[in-house]
Amino acid sequence: MFSDLTPLKELETGRRRAERLAYFEMLASGIAHEIKNPLVAIKTFAHLLPRRHSDERFIEDFGRIATREIQRMERLLERLHTLSRPSDRLRQPLDLRVPVTEAVETMRAAFEEKNLVVTVVTPPTPCMIRGAHAELGQLFLNLLMNAHEATPPRGMLRVELAVTETHAIATVLDTGPGVPAELLDRVFEPFFTTRQRGSGLGLAICAAIAQTHDAKLKVANQPAGGALFTAEFPLAVAAPAPVSA
Ligand SMILES: Nc1ncnc2c1ncn2[C@@H]1O[C@H](COP(=O)(O)OP(=O)(O)OP(=O)(O)O)[C@@H](O)[C@H]1O
Ligand SMILES: [Mg+2]
Repeated sequence: MFSDLTPLKELETGRRRAERLAYFEMLASGIAHEIKNPLVAIKTFAHLLPRRHSDERFIEDFGRIATREIQRMERLLERLHTLSRPSDRLRQPLDLRVPVTEAVETMRAAFEEKNLVVTVVTPPTPCMIRGAHAELGQLFLNLLMNAHEATPPRGMLRVELAVTETHAIATVLDTGPGVPAELLDRVFEPFFTTRQRGSGLGLAICAAIAQTHDAKLKVANQPAGGALFTAEFPLAVAAPAPVSA
């Protein structure tokens, strides 16, 4: 009996190792790619500096571009940090309506600039879950930034929060082109992007944050087109009273 199980177990261990290696390769190549571009920009300037140091325009450009590219690398480090930080200990009871509406407020000016019609629907009573406020804000901000990015001017965006007996369900939908069916499985992968200057970390971070909140994060396309992201959080339940001995 046991000897029959061993090869199966070995197969499973081998499969897991291969999966981890593939994931590591994806992360490593993504990080390398993200760091290479800013480095090349800075290196090129540094190389020309001895010959051009009295060219005021050159020095000005160097300062501006080096600062921008360094900020890009700093942002990458910050985002990788979010991706790797387990926040279980920081979870506390909070009203999910708060990070949702705050994220919408943060994006308000960007939405207005593009003339997007934004509808926000939240229940009249608190949606209590256990969570980390800043991370949840990050999750909704990333979803809203993507929706903003994907939706053409004068398009529509809808953010909805609903509660069932057991869950709080947040929905973000837009009237952009949606996610091509063959890419639906890949959008949560770190460094997967279809955007020119995207890093492809936004949704990977959302997925990591959802996971630490025991939430299910899903993507689909609406029948009429446009992406639909849902995040389903277990509602906080009162801790059972300690049993007296
Ligand atoms: N609302 C949306 N509509 C259509 N496609 C989307 C939407 N949100 C995400 N995507 C697709 O998923 C990809 C990954 O999104 P993700 O947020 O992880 O990275 P990104 O937006 O490309 O870059 P960044 O790291 O700056 O967020 C996007 O490049 C895009 O192809
Ligand atoms: Mg994004």
